[in-house]
Amino acid sequence: MKGKSERLIVVSNRLPFSFRRVADGRWKSEQSGGGLVTALLPVLRHRGGMWIGWPGVAEGSDGLDRELAAVGEGAGYALKAVPLTPEEVRNFYEGFSNEIIWPLFHDMQLLCNFDPAYWRTYRDVNRKFARVVHAECGAGDFVWVHDYHLMGVASELRRLKSGARIGFFLHIPFPSPDMFLKLPWRLEIIESLLHYDLVGFQTLRDRRNFVQCVRELLRDVEVEGRGQVLQATVSGRKMRIGNFPISIDFNAFMRQAATSEVAAHAKELHRLLPNRKLLLGIDRLDYTKGIPLRLQAFQNVLERYPDLRERISLIQVVVPSREDIGDYQELKTEIERLVGRINGSFVRPGGWVPVWYVYRSLSRLDLLAYYRAADIGLITPLKDGMNLVAKEYCACSIEEDCALILSEFAGAAAQLANNALLVNPFDIEGVADAIHRAYHMDAGERQARMRRMRRSIRENDVFWWVDSFLRAAIARDLKAFPQPEHVVPDEIIDHTPLVL
Ligand code: F6P
Repeated sequence: MKGKSERLIVVSNRLPFSFRRVADGRWKSEQSGGGLVTALLPVLRHRGGMWIGWPGVAEGSDGLDRELAAVGEGAGYALKAVPLTPEEVRNFYEGFSNEIIWPLFHDMQLLCNFDPAYWRTYRDVNRKFARVVHAECGAGDFVWVHDYHLMGVASELRRLKSGARIGFFLHIPFPSPDMFLKLPWRLEIIESLLHYDLVGFQTLRDRRNFVQCVRELLRDVEVEGRGQVLQATVSGRKMRIGNFPISIDFNAFMRQAATSEVAAHAKELHRLLPNRKLLLGIDRLDYTKGIPLRLQAFQNVLERYPDLRERISLIQVVVPSREDIGDYQELKTEIERLVGRINGSFVRPGGWVPVWYVYRSLSRLDLLAYYRAADIGLITPLKDGMNLVAKEYCACSIEEDCALILSEFAGAAAQLANNALLVNPFDIEGVADAIHRAYHMDAGERQARMRRMRRSIRENDVFWWVDSFLRAAIARDLKAFPQPEHVVPDEIIDHTPLVL
């Protein structure tokens, strides 16, 4: 493999395919539907490339290498597995990644379990990934590492004397110094990130938090510049820090949502839930998504605005996730208790059920039909790197006749602030008021807002995102990167209460 120059080597915790053994002992694989895979595919095919990651199954699974080679051949790029032992999965993935970094970076410090054994395994697994990357990577290749599981890969590669150019993108938020400085391994993590040639964040706020943490912890690092991409000098070496809001394949969502099959499914949903507006929440099961507070806000709107009873239903889809971690199981119980309480209090026998609750993964068709059928998208995470559901909902709203209620703490708020109804997800009455406002919003305003949001997402889709990250990694002159116009600095997001 070595020697073929200028390839793109993508590295992420999970490979873009999931693998499972079927009854006859053979492997079955399925590509993940995510926008990241779709967006990287043309680049991987064009430049030639490889995706390195954990296959999600136990180490030593026989026959998996053959399956990976066959799947890679079909996909148009090579796949390379980094096998993990059950102990590594426990300490690196569930432990350090999901019981420390995930809650801390989402400002939920009390959920962190700062077990030192987790840190040791995290370091070892990052080293293991780096060794695989080093063995596969040629001098001209560009290595693009994704997300919080792998913040230490560049420093390990440097230790191996790799000369590769290495970029990193953080898909989740980066916390403020108040939060980050609580991490016992804060210095090691900041120093590791500075070994990358380019570190990308979702929003200006995340980038600003990172730069403040660098300044707090390392007095001799200089950061300069004003546009989308800054330059830092670390012990005489130059690296870059930028913000690149991730997006979706807008045209694919729009096209698929416009099919007659999706239209028929959406119509069927309205037939089953007639004479009312449909509110939609779709989330992975996660405590960062704010589902219990959202349910309380929905209960509050029914209590305070009786005109909405029987005129509105909330479809809440929860996609199972990280089921082996205790906090997630407790959250599921809490959500189900709240759904039961609301339906028990307001249901009209033989008729209106206020909350339609779905706990499972959705087929693509069902997902698109929910998006297309919903009159109001209700997306209220307590904190979220971007929240692509918000963008997918807009892309699928092809009639443009619906409203989006969005948490001001989702990364997407920086782009959609002027046209979504922004809410503080912790303010139960404020979210209830926004639901009432969205319900009564006149068609002209609804359509104008949705049209502007759709235009902005279409212009800055996931292909634009890949392109802007890769250009920032290789550009000679950073002046070519002014701050994109749609990025609303946090100070000018309107925090005034909604006037009803
Ligand atoms: O949002 C961060 C993320 O890692 C996504 O990339 C991923 O889809 C999601 O969280 C769930 O990740 P996992 O199931 O691998 O923990």
